[in-house]
Amino acid sequence: MCSDCNAGALNIYLFKGEAFMAMQNFVFYNPVKIIFGENQIAEIANEIPKESKVLITYGGGSIKKNGVYDQVIKALENHTVLEFAGIEPNPKYETLMQAIEVCRKESIDFVLAVGGGSVIDGTKFIVAGVNYAGDPWELVAKREPGAFISSAPDLTSAVPFGTVLTLPATSSEMNCGAVISRKDSADKLAFSNPLLFPKFSVLDPVTTFTLPDNQTSNGIIDIYIHVIEQYLTIPMNAPIQDWMAEGILKTLIEEAPKVMQNGKDYDARANIMWAGAIGLNGWISPGVAQDWATHMLGHELTAKYGLDHGQTLAVVLPSLMDVKREQKSEKILQYARRVLGITSGSDEEVIDQAINKTREFFEGLGVKTRLSDYGITADGIADIVAQLDKHGLTALGEHGDIDLKASEEILRRAL
Ligand code: NZQ
Ligand code: ZN
Repeated sequence: MCSDCNAGALNIYLFKGEAFMAMQNFVFYNPVKIIFGENQIAEIANEIPKESKVLITYGGGSIKKNGVYDQVIKALENHTVLEFAGIEPNPKYETLMQAIEVCRKESIDFVLAVGGGSVIDGTKFIVAGVNYAGDPWELVAKREPGAFISSAPDLTSAVPFGTVLTLPATSSEMNCGAVISRKDSADKLAFSNPLLFPKFSVLDPVTTFTLPDNQTSNGIIDIYIHVIEQYLTIPMNAPIQDWMAEGILKTLIEEAPKVMQNGKDYDARANIMWAGAIGLNGWISPGVAQDWATHMLGHELTAKYGLDHGQTLAVVLPSLMDVKREQKSEKILQYARRVLGITSGSDEEVIDQAINKTREFFEGLGVKTRLSDYGITADGIADIVAQLDKHGLTALGEHGDIDLKASEEILRRAL
């Protein structure tokens, strides 16, 4: 999730009396070297400077069970290596501060994140925090007025880092954003800065063979909704971005059943892994409107009720599409036709079908799409709205018109 996620003012041009949107000016920058394919973990030895003192960061131990840890240790047998384990899903500030202390004490000069989005995001916070004079939480919490993600303008340096990805979902392996939570409060906030691009990321699809079904599904839904956030907005006269977005969505729809049936299907795993990287690496967003309200509501649901990131998105998106059906109608109709193959019905019927088919896709992956499925009732909605208010998330969506009332309505229709 990079700084360009902040939807800015849109250029509206008038053409033959009709308002239409045009592609905005943009700057594109993505320096991440991707090393893709089976047996590629060994390559990290050539990417990390030999004289570096390396800290390997990882999560709760999945990499020890599936052999990824052994491959990393073998590859770095000629490097000086330390470890920091225990970065939890939805990585916590308190845990990451311990890793920052290790980096400072041991004069670490390269960090290697091995795991999913949480380990990679947590590592971004660590490498940002090591040389930061104040409390690193400021990097996450200080936002420009109206922005929903901090651009960490006070960050002036970061320890270089690379990644070995084991869970395709976030694209954290190929972007400069991260989402950090706290144990002591229901805060889950995003930040991004160009200093936080990984130097390289190794994507070996075989590492994902051991993913449990629920994490495979969560990941597919996360990728799908990253694309939706950057596509299901308003027409921008940007056919390249549209076709690319639609290509990723169609690929996910085609590959998901294969991988759910056979977790060791290399080709399907590879296609999903690549979809994850390009879903949020900046390729489909240049110059087009972006939404991100599903994610912002979702982050609050995780922070307050502990739902997985993918689960929150599956709950919020169908309801958001319903509430915003009028503003998004042109793109929902295009999505219905080109991605979902819906060919008949009035516009309203087509939009209904598109929402239902999207919900069915998520449910078909075993992920429930109603708040009530997770034990959240109407009484719980006020807490989420209060958190949105606390975090200044009061003007979301591509039009900035998802205020607290609209968020409440989206959550209410998601019950
Ligand atoms: O901790 P370990 O033991 O490694 O187990 C993990 C974890 O329990 C397990 N896992 C990972 N790879 C595995 C595996 N288990 C078996 N085999 C493997 N190969 O999966 C569990 C979940 O991992 P996690 O990293 O939390 O999942 P994910 O990649 O979905 O990351 C979610 C986090 O990323 C943030 C989310 O908000 C959430 O905090 N996001 C980051 C973004 C970004 N940086 O751009 C954008 C996203 O929208 C998202 O917000
Ligand atoms: Zn996401």
